[in-house]
Amino acid sequence: MCGIVGYVGKHQVTDAKDIIIDGLKKLEYRGYDSAGIALNTGDRLEIRKHVGRIENLEKLIKGETLNSHIGIGHTRWATHGAPSDLNAHPHCNADGSIAVVHNGIIENYVEIKEWLTKEYGVQFKSETDTEVIAHLIGIYYDGDLEDAVFKAVTKMRGAYAIGVVAAAEPDKIVAVRKDAPLIAGLGEGCNFIASDIPALLKHVREIYLIENNETVVVTADDVKIYNEARKQVKREVFHVTWDAEAAEKEGYDHFMLKEIHEQPKGLYETLNRRIEKDGSIKLDGIHLTKEDIENFNKVFIVACGTAYHAGLVGKFILENLAKIPVEIDVASEFRYRDPFVDDKTLFIAISQSGETLDTLAALREAKRKGARILSVVNVVGSSVARESDDVFYTWAGPEIAVASTKAYTTQLMCMYLIGLYMGRKKGVVSDEKYAQYMSELKQIPDKLANLLEGESAIHDLAKELYKREQVFFIGRGADVGVSYEGSLKLKEISYINSFAIAAGELKHGTIALIEKDTLVIALATQDKLYEKMLSNIQEVKARGAYVIGVAKEGNKEIEKQADRVIYIPDCMDEVSPFLSVVPLQILAYYIAKERGCDIDKPKNLAKSVTVE
Ligand code: F6R
Repeated sequence: MCGIVGYVGKHQVTDAKDIIIDGLKKLEYRGYDSAGIALNTGDRLEIRKHVGRIENLEKLIKGETLNSHIGIGHTRWATHGAPSDLNAHPHCNADGSIAVVHNGIIENYVEIKEWLTKEYGVQFKSETDTEVIAHLIGIYYDGDLEDAVFKAVTKMRGAYAIGVVAAAEPDKIVAVRKDAPLIAGLGEGCNFIASDIPALLKHVREIYLIENNETVVVTADDVKIYNEARKQVKREVFHVTWDAEAAEKEGYDHFMLKEIHEQPKGLYETLNRRIEKDGSIKLDGIHLTKEDIENFNKVFIVACGTAYHAGLVGKFILENLAKIPVEIDVASEFRYRDPFVDDKTLFIAISQSGETLDTLAALREAKRKGARILSVVNVVGSSVARESDDVFYTWAGPEIAVASTKAYTTQLMCMYLIGLYMGRKKGVVSDEKYAQYMSELKQIPDKLANLLEGESAIHDLAKELYKREQVFFIGRGADVGVSYEGSLKLKEISYINSFAIAAGELKHGTIALIEKDTLVIALATQDKLYEKMLSNIQEVKARGAYVIGVAKEGNKEIEKQADRVIYIPDCMDEVSPFLSVVPLQILAYYIAKERGCDIDKPKNLAKSVTVE
């Protein structure tokens, strides 16, 4: 987590302060516990930092003349040390001549701290792991920042993307990447570093994707990349095609609402760009042959959070379409339990950011064991994408709100396409079944757009429900994964204690919690399981629950059991997750809004979780 930005331009032409702060605002989704900036004002580094949002930092420096052409900035998601002014980045060495911003965790910081204290008498001001980096560099520094940084990183273990400036070298930023995202932006008479593309979109389209263990030295005229052995390496320029507006709110109150509304477009793009004129699916980025597919005896889906929920639906789809056993695990568990994975395993990593450290680590573990790695990723050129054998991009466009919406539905679409592709190659999906699926999938963007027209009714429902403090989500079959996702959406942005469970499991314990007026959201979109769900609804009603049902249009029977019903357009059972999740996203959004929550930046969270 955390976001870093660095800017270096020509002397006295531009003001680094505004450019860096503007970039940090685009990275606030990565953490917003504090923000800070270090500017070289000619003969010294000026550091300003403040706990809380970037606007606090802005207020702090308002009216100050801090003209500079070079600086680094940071927005923090706290790991080591509580959010505070002291723990905010940048951190400096003893005499304040070197400043560092850092995203990641230095695992051996205690060891380094003890060594620095014992050998050099260093006194630490903060509780962070980052401060050791500044002191380490300070100790090695003798007029050559590049050299000092190279020496310092040899002592550091962990994950980091760092940006460093020195008072005595007002022309350069040195940055290093190890297991945390870092890019360099190529401008006209100025250059940049950043954790992510949106920070730079206003200024540059051409970027270098910095690889692991690389150091980048950025001046106003040049960007040089070095490998671990300090040899300069060549890098192709990556051209960013996203437009800057895609990363703006465009009149919506929140990014989350905008992104909910972008789902029909995202799904249309993800699907239609993959369909050939003859109706077959072209999976650009996936090079699996018929032989490869027949060689697999298992698929392992691994992801975190919402992406994991997309994987739960993905398991259904792949088993149904590709006729192959599918295991699924959360990434943080997968890597430590010695899972049974070998060269006959297709490992599918799902990740919006492509930078989630748990997912990345699980991917590396599967790779080590010989699995073929296929990733479903939204951010082009991200770490997960780069370390995979095959990459399937979701084309959702930039997702800024911390609560994931359009990434989830486009991830689902990718899972259907992968399932159909594998099933066709294996010869287990008939022409008829293929045509039926394609027809259903093609209708999803329009059906979803229709569903969004009913948004105000869900807003009204949210006004009735927003004071609740406990909610249960239940469903069966494909609705189970959607229940988990609906529950996560609600709890992460409204802070309501919500819990999801397979409806048939209720009676094995959880039903003890259902009492008069307990709110239950019951997903009943699966025709095959509809009657069973109606029985589950009766069970909770019998204990006094207040039930909101979610069902397909035409399935009116549910009205006799549930207190309220949200209808989704009729569709084949197998594709209903696209449609059933959307009312749950909208409900979560409006409940959070009614509760006055900070929807795009929920407390304790960050968009891209680059720590373990
Ligand atoms: C919740 C949410 C998170 C992410 C999870 C994985 O709304 O967004 O649960 O899904 O942190 O992130 P990615 O997909 O970037 O790997």
